[in-house]
Amino acid sequence: MYKGGVRLGSEARACQPSSSEGLTAQRAILGAMAKRRSIYACSECGAQQPRWLGRCPDCGAWDSLVEEPLGGKTSDGTLGGVGPGLSGEPTPLSEIKPDASPRIQTGEPELDRVLGGGLVPGSVSLLGGEPGVGKSTLALQVCGRLAESGRPVLYVTGEESAEQIRLRADRLGKVPGGLQVMSETQVERILAQWDALGPDFVLIDSIQTMRCERVESAAGSVAQVRESAALLSAKAKAQGAAVVLVGHVTKEGSLAGPRVLEHLVDVVLGFEGDRDHAFRLLRASKNRFGSTQEVGVFTMGASGLAPVGNPSELFLSERSSGSPGSCIVPVLEGTRPMLVEVQALIASSTYGVPRRTCMGIEDGRAALLLAVLDRRSDVDLLSRDVYVNVAGGVRIGETAADLALCLAIASSRLDLPIPSDAAACGEVGLGGEVRRVARLDLRVAEAARLGFRRVLVPPIAGDRPPSSHECEHVPIKNVSEAVAWLRTSTPSHANENRR
Ligand code: TYD
Ligand code: MG
Repeated sequence: MYKGGVRLGSEARACQPSSSEGLTAQRAILGAMAKRRSIYACSECGAQQPRWLGRCPDCGAWDSLVEEPLGGKTSDGTLGGVGPGLSGEPTPLSEIKPDASPRIQTGEPELDRVLGGGLVPGSVSLLGGEPGVGKSTLALQVCGRLAESGRPVLYVTGEESAEQIRLRADRLGKVPGGLQVMSETQVERILAQWDALGPDFVLIDSIQTMRCERVESAAGSVAQVRESAALLSAKAKAQGAAVVLVGHVTKEGSLAGPRVLEHLVDVVLGFEGDRDHAFRLLRASKNRFGSTQEVGVFTMGASGLAPVGNPSELFLSERSSGSPGSCIVPVLEGTRPMLVEVQALIASSTYGVPRRTCMGIEDGRAALLLAVLDRRSDVDLLSRDVYVNVAGGVRIGETAADLALCLAIASSRLDLPIPSDAAACGEVGLGGEVRRVARLDLRVAEAARLGFRRVLVPPIAGDRPPSSHECEHVPIKNVSEAVAWLRTSTPSHANENRR
């Protein structure tokens, strides 16, 4: 709060034009604008300077100023001015007819789900992801499916040669006849071919390799990326074609060319996954034509990406039931419930300081739960090594998995397996109490669908449907009660092994 207050104050001061410094800077910019045809804009805060500087005087970012063309030189995309299809005249909202143009089904059901039913003609989508996650593979699959359905499709590659694309297509299976591949990075030349082909779908792989003549800076710079995207976007809107721009993600996880593209496009898709695991997630972080709650699930195999209709079955397929230290939790990915396996292994510590290693769950959260379990139940963990893992390379970011992790840890420590027909979900507070989680109804229903007969849930019902004879709900008040449940619900022969 305190920091926010200070920041607000300083921003307010910065906006006041009355200071003589501000006036001088404004005059300098106006003077430069009169003479020059380009200006330098900070890619971090957007502040404009008449000349290049190593450090932005407004936000203090280093090496963030990029040259940009002035006013009339920018394209007529959505960046500014009256774009294509816009009249500039006010119209009563009630008289505007909603656009009834049908969506283009991509043929990839998981992608269509994330897009909200398919691609919208005239829209621009951005597909971001780390190198090697499978962006080009997904792109080629979609192009292939659309071409098979008889639509004219243009695949523009600025990174790979046309031969490499052909090799990938061979790997994916059938090579569709109607798919045009173009190895090009000059946007003006792409636009010329676009006119000649009149495609319904254009794919640009990747936007960071594109450059246009009107901007002098190198390909991949903020100005080039923004201007190229604006030109392609304007063309898409004018021709009614759907465009997907593939974009690289930086190490920090943001799309290169800081956020400039996200404002420009209609849909921002993120493709996530671990290179060591086959499982991939597709999410929308922005969608002007649908929800951002949906998640698409794929597996990467020898012949490309395959949709996963039932992710829970995928994650549970390798589960070894009956061994201690494993608990199933229904997590939510958007509005989609998925059952995943949380594993824990407690071992005697050989060194003075016990070791704690977590994969798939945040270290801090696991440490907190270990401390709660140690203090609020009779499970002693202080001098033990603890290893936590989420099977399948999944990363859990929600606190709904707390109860399941506590149970997995207690199960490993006490050497008592959790019954294979039980799942658990609930947030755990510092007092050891089990708290409510969002959309418990969806989670419990998914567990019941996959044959789980018992779900450990928070004591406050919330939006949970009533317990049925097929799937019983076991209310758990706190971690101590969860451990007591574990002791009583494990078969008696396992109890004998208890340490
Ligand atoms: P790619 O789509 O080129 O990733 P990106 O464009 O995001 O950089 O390919 C990603 C990885 O997927 C690559 O290491 C090879 C692998 N792959 C498969 O496992 N199976 C396949 O059928 C294909 C085409 C690629
Ligand atoms: Mg690629």
